[in-house]
Amino acid sequence: MSTQKPWGGRFSERTDKLVEEFTASIGFDQRLYNEDIQGSIAHCHMLSSCGIIDSGDADQIISGLQAIREEIEKGEFVFSVPLEDIHMNIESRLSDLIGAGIAGKLHTARSRNDQVALDIRLYLKKEISGIKSLLKGLINALITQAEDTKDVVMPGFTHLQQAQPVLFAHHLLAYVEMFSRDYQRLEDTEKQADIMPLGSGALAGTSFSIDRQMVADELGFAGLTANSMDAVSDRDGVIETLFSGALIMLHLSRFCEELVLWSSVQFNFITLADSFCTGSSIMPQKKNPDVPELIRGKCGRVIGDLVSLLITMKSLPLAYNKDMQEDKEPLFDCLDTVKGSLAIMAPLVRSMTVNRQSMATQAEYGFSTATEIADYLVRRGLPFRQAHEIVGNIVAYCLEKGLQFKDMSFDDWKRFSDYFDEQVISLLSAEDAVRSKNIYGGTATQQVVQQLDRLKRQWQDAD
Ligand code: ARG
Repeated sequence: MSTQKPWGGRFSERTDKLVEEFTASIGFDQRLYNEDIQGSIAHCHMLSSCGIIDSGDADQIISGLQAIREEIEKGEFVFSVPLEDIHMNIESRLSDLIGAGIAGKLHTARSRNDQVALDIRLYLKKEISGIKSLLKGLINALITQAEDTKDVVMPGFTHLQQAQPVLFAHHLLAYVEMFSRDYQRLEDTEKQADIMPLGSGALAGTSFSIDRQMVADELGFAGLTANSMDAVSDRDGVIETLFSGALIMLHLSRFCEELVLWSSVQFNFITLADSFCTGSSIMPQKKNPDVPELIRGKCGRVIGDLVSLLITMKSLPLAYNKDMQEDKEPLFDCLDTVKGSLAIMAPLVRSMTVNRQSMATQAEYGFSTATEIADYLVRRGLPFRQAHEIVGNIVAYCLEKGLQFKDMSFDDWKRFSDYFDEQVISLLSAEDAVRSKNIYGGTATQQVVQQLDRLKRQWQDAD
């Protein structure tokens, strides 16, 4: 393959090998080969339809590009570092295949700057749609798990201290809310990416009478970029994808942290399937939650990917700068990590076992119904602050005596306040505490079932 530079005309010296290696992006941007070829074919159709190149040449260019796609997919294409990036690798191979005289016409009215902007937008559209379906898979796994366990009561926490009993399903559906927002965010990002930049040239537009709309239509874009300088220097779509990815990982990471805790002997809320855990090379009893731990760990690298591109872009003058080539590795790393994490989480959630009894028993401990008792005193006429103080005193008393609320007799209660009547004993169950939170958004079974129905309609009936 020829390694002559498409831009070699004004140079009298060979590029230093170190420079070739340092500036090359082919090691990673070869991932964009399909989008690059797709974009070139659309561009070529348009050049021919506008009479800028003749149709016989266009046919040859297009067959050449298709042959190159096949070579790449069969693993026969030799990527060249001196040819720097995917755009020049493909263009140079096209010259080899159909001759430079015709191949050289493809780049009319185009620059690598608008070409790479196009490739990235096409790639983002494809990848975001893939992440959306993985996200949907995880959301559905969570909904199914919530549906199967909707009568299970667990201790709810604040500060990781036992707070109030909640339904396990309510806890799971909290994550469904987060992942639903992530899905929505991806749809917004998709819209940002759905604008066609070709025709912006290097930065100023082009003097050829091209038909930008035709290219947009062939490639399925919703609109055209309106400012050529912005179009070639904008990486907002990449940054938004990185942000969306970082937030998905952050939500996953919080969930994973809980799975790690919940699957410990100390919590014993859930049991992860053996097939999703690993063992220890020294401690025979160990069953480690490596998958959630690793997802929690990988959240860090995706946040790093986002921060890295934000910093790369922050001081760049208009329009294109080579710095922007640094957008690709963080983007690819983020996409790989997010896809891998979502793909493994859905089956992990489906295969975990919920230890109902253990959760229910623990929900009864730790004075988790203290707020119920305070609320009860309020209903009987005490100001909340006073009720809070009284129940606080009872908790202190129980702690000193090594008692739970349930161990207290009615006389014991009465000693702390005359406002208590026998009904207090019936307030001590975690299930009753859950049932009483019958407010829109609350944890009562009736509310959670309504939310489940809404979410099932939203996520399971659609397409
Ligand atoms: N490989 C380059 C990138 O990813 C393509 C655009 C190069 N343009 C240029 N004028 N050097 O940013």
